[in-house]
Amino acid sequence: MNFELPILAPSILAADFTKLGEEIQDALNGGTSWIHCDIMDGHFVPNISYGPSIVKAAKKAAPEAFLDVHLMIEEPDKYVENFVEAGADLISVHYETCPHLHRSIQNIKKYGIMAGVVINPSTPVSIIEPILQDVDLVLIMSVNPGFGGQSFIESSYERLSELAAIRDSRELSFLIQVDGGVNLKNISKVAKAGADVLVAGSSVFSAENISARVQELTEKFQ
Ligand code: DX5
Ligand code: ZN
Repeated sequence: MNFELPILAPSILAADFTKLGEEIQDALNGGTSWIHCDIMDGHFVPNISYGPSIVKAAKKAAPEAFLDVHLMIEEPDKYVENFVEAGADLISVHYETCPHLHRSIQNIKKYGIMAGVVINPSTPVSIIEPILQDVDLVLIMSVNPGFGGQSFIESSYERLSELAAIRDSRELSFLIQVDGGVNLKNISKVAKAGADVLVAGSSVFSAENISARVQELTEKFQ
């Protein structure tokens, strides 16, 4: 799939679920095509969010959107099919939850969708080197996963650049994504550090005018 980079991926974790369809459309009208869905199980992360039914509702509200599903759950392999059926275009799993990561990635790809791997802020970038040729996207967490509205961890800039350098040297083409604490103040610097896809939850959905905020954030890419 070809995308115009960088991409803003609004996370609906921070949306008002009583008007989810409307808020997704507002975000898309601001000029992005990705919607990020955060799935939390209360085990891998200390919070519970939502499951496939909300992903399905998002797909129904915006069939044209690219649904980016971030699984922060134990034993993700068990649930991949449910999220594919719900409409996921990309599913990302945490390195920390997958003892057989290569198998988990192949299991996602067999459905004909994109597959991503995610690393927590304390996981070294080098640890995922053996899987890089097999993934479509690498997500570098810039907060400890589990909650929206946290502050961007400064060491993430260096981690993004480190991954971008590895990608260049190996001539690979996976997308680099960043997630957590991205806002109007730091988005330009985060993109420059090497991120192709920037997740933004509270900075998008806490805005009075969601479309205008998406526009403001993406203008910072220039
Ligand atoms: C954190 C989630 C993020 C979260 C980002 O565990 O993976 O996607 O929604 O929210 P903000 O942008 O508010 O940090
Ligand atoms: Zn996320």
